Amino acid sequence: MVSSKTFSSLQFFTLFYLFTVAFASTEEAIALLKCKATFKNQNNSLLASWTPNSNTCEDWYGVVCFNGRVNRLNITNSSVIGNLYAFPFSSLPFLENLNLSMNNFSGTIPPEISNLTNLIYLDLNINQISGTIPPQIGSLAKLQILRIFGNHLNGSIPEEIGYLRSLTTLSLGRKLSYWFHSSFIGVFEQLVFFVSL
Ligand SMILES: *[C@@H]1O[C@H](CO)[C@@H](O)[C@H](O)[C@H]1NC(C)=O
Ligand SMILES: *[C@@H]1O[C@H](CO)[C@@H](O)[C@H](O)[C@H]1NC(C)=O
Ligand SMILES: *[C@@H]1O[C@H](CO)[C@@H](O)[C@H](O)[C@H]1NC(C)=O
Ligand SMILES: *[C@@H]1O[C@H](CO)[C@@H](O)[C@H](O)[C@H]1NC(C)=O
Ligand SMILES: *[C@@H]1O[C@H](CO)[C@@H](O)[C@H](O)[C@H]1NC(C)=O
Ligand SMILES: *[C@@H]1O[C@H](CO)[C@@H](O)[C@H](O)[C@H]1NC(C)=O
Ligand SMILES: *[C@@H]1O[C@H](CO)[C@@H](O)[C@H](O)[C@H]1NC(C)=O
Repeated sequence: MVSSKTFSSLQFFTLFYLFTVAFASTEEAIALLKCKATFKNQNNSLLASWTPNSNTCEDWYGVVCFNGRVNRLNITNSSVIGNLYAFPFSSLPFLENLNLSMNNFSGTIPPEISNLTNLIYLDLNINQISGTIPPQIGSLAKLQILRIFGNHLNGSIPEEIGYLRSLTTLSLGRKLSYWFHSSFIGVFEQLVFFVSL
């Protein structure tokens, strides 16, 4: 009796483990599908593999999971036409690497970008993004690389960028005004690279 109970709980945990390792949470998959549905060129992109019946972690182009949660989303140069308003910022709490570079994303950067609290790499290079950099970007405490050149961003760089203590690479656009608040001085101890294009 005892040994069969032990066996079945072991089986249960093995199955549970396999399940969590192989599949992204359903919430993450649904949120990404909703976002994809807002893209204009749905059949002209590499995202054809993003379907409800496929395995998000193993089959979806550009998605890499860690412990069954979406860890990396890299759809650079994928001919995506869209905006960031439907991006599931609050549904991807374990996302560390977001690369949307070289697409046709337009509109502004939503303040909800701050919900990606584990983000380490953020690359929005070479899109059609406009408006200003939201001050909420300063909440991304783990951010090491921020690349947003090649867009239509304007205005000044928010003071809150100074909160990004882990930042090592910052590439901004040439239309931004490089007015740095005096409180920035001495903040970027680790910043080794600063490109402006
Ligand atoms: C893409 O969608 C358009 C209509 O929106 C259709 O005419 C075209 O055949 C589709 N292409 C492919 C490869 O499915
Ligand atoms: C992102 O995808 C591009 C194109 O597939 C690839 O060249 C690049 O190495 C990828 N980067 C990461 C960090 O996975
Ligand atoms: C972008 O993708 C196209 C194919 O769709 C390829 O020809 C081009 O070299 C890629 N560009 C970069 C910079 O990877
Ligand atoms: C981006 O997409 C819009 C359509 O929404 C199009 O008019 C524009 O030419 C595209 N820009 C680039 C650089 O592909
Ligand atoms: C998401 O970001 C918005 C804007 O910064 C903020 O108001 C909201 O509280 C955040 N939600 C969570 C769950 O962190
Ligand atoms: C994003 O992908 C491009 C390849 O298309 C790569 O050159 C770039 O380094 C990536 N950005 C980050 C932050 O990993
Ligand atoms: C920034 O660009 C927008 C259009 O994208 C424009 O309406 C606004 O006046 C510009 N602001 C500054 C300070 O240049």
